[in-house]
Amino acid sequence: MNIDYSEKIPNNVNLSNDRRLQRALERWQPEYLNWWNDLGPDKGKELEVYLRTAISVEKEGWAHFDFVRMPEYRWGIFLAPAEENRKIGFGQHLGEDAWQEVPGEYRGELRRLIVTQGDTEPASVEQQRLLGHTCPSLYDLRNLFQVNVEEGRHLWAMVYLLHAYFGRDGREEAEEMLERHSGDPDKPRILQAFNEKTPDWLSFFMFTYFTDRDGKFQLASLAESGFDPLSRTCRFMLTEEAHHMFVGETGVGRVVQRTCDLMKEHDTDDVRPFGGIDLKTLQKYLNFHFSVSCDLFGQELSTNAANYYNMGIKGRYNESKIQDDHQLYDSAYSVMECKDDKISMAEVPELNSVNERLRDDYIEDSELGLRRWNKIIEDAGIDFRFSLPHRAFHREIGQFASVQADPGLLLQKEKSIASLLSLSSCAFIDRKLLPGYIQYNFSFSLNNYTDFLREKHERAYLSFRHIQFPGKV
Ligand SMILES: [Fe+2]
Ligand SMILES: [Fe+2]
Repeated sequence: MNIDYSEKIPNNVNLSNDRRLQRALERWQPEYLNWWNDLGPDKGKELEVYLRTAISVEKEGWAHFDFVRMPEYRWGIFLAPAEENRKIGFGQHLGEDAWQEVPGEYRGELRRLIVTQGDTEPASVEQQRLLGHTCPSLYDLRNLFQVNVEEGRHLWAMVYLLHAYFGRDGREEAEEMLERHSGDPDKPRILQAFNEKTPDWLSFFMFTYFTDRDGKFQLASLAESGFDPLSRTCRFMLTEEAHHMFVGETGVGRVVQRTCDLMKEHDTDDVRPFGGIDLKTLQKYLNFHFSVSCDLFGQELSTNAANYYNMGIKGRYNESKIQDDHQLYDSAYSVMECKDDKISMAEVPELNSVNERLRDDYIEDSELGLRRWNKIIEDAGIDFRFSLPHRAFHREIGQFASVQADPGLLLQKEKSIASLLSLSSCAFIDRKLLPGYIQYNFSFSLNNYTDFLREKHERAYLSFRHIQFPGKV
């Protein structure tokens, strides 16, 4: 089914058959656009950007690519196709028909899950608002804007669920999504990682690698939900999410490549004077973004998570592929425990450790990119490897919040967290030296920081026009 773009809100949910819902969403739409204009990408309004827009939810050909001015981007509502006779795959309702309406007894919990997920989407757009000013290239600028418009669409996805299934309090929650703001002291975003700053492009690449990856795992476990509209919404969002993580992984990879090239060229670890970012600093960024993203999974042992699971509203990652009873009443799971400043493994009821299991899956998945980055260093013949910091490092949530941990596993109670990125330690990346994007195109001289874009895998992109500037051919 292709989406009708002549409608005010493109959708595949038969919005025109539900006039009340359509009117409610059409009332929210100008508020959303006001928010986008105030807190979306700065100074991107006039540019025509080569963007991906969802036009169907079929596996093949769901996206359409063309030049679009961002305020005219068509944010739509798309759910993955319904699975006939879908059953609930876990918890106490295992095997029952999936719900097409919100079960009254789980209304509060479902709303909370949807609001928490929804709140992260506009938050990241706010965090990334100023990055266009310092983009390394038009290729990167286009990717930034692509990520931004899709996070905006993810907000639409969650707001649709709130409007369609939660009546008046759903509509109020949708309003509040636009009232909380990243880093706002009075009305911050719900989760801390989304109140942090994304002040430079390395942060952006790390964020899309580590924090969008948290998004992948949250969406995947919500895609298991017995509440079918939530499951279908999240399944489609996951298709878009893959590109965000690609931007992060290849972005960091390019920085690493550039560092290695400079190290070899100048025979030194200290590549800062030559416009590179030294490997130790890259490791600090990695420590920071990994640790704040780890917090997003919540407490190791959580009754909320156990309840969500038992109710059948939020499952585990790849729930259907796991070989067990999908109820977890009697099973155990190994969780890291911190007692008397020592870390050991403890067997706990599996139902209570659903969060920790998701974090384990996340950590395993995060390792893959590190391997690729390390391969770049290895191929350059350099004796250095990135590693993920220990999960106890720099945590604000869970049992490790009360300890100060070295990223390399040792627990050191009195020691300060020397390896943690502080903003002052990355101040050497002088953003003023990076070109403003308005004057920027591929044909003119790239400074040291951006030379890495000339590297092989970028070559194909250099001849492509990613952004069109008004008044220029
Ligand atoms: Fe998202
Ligand atoms: Fe994302």
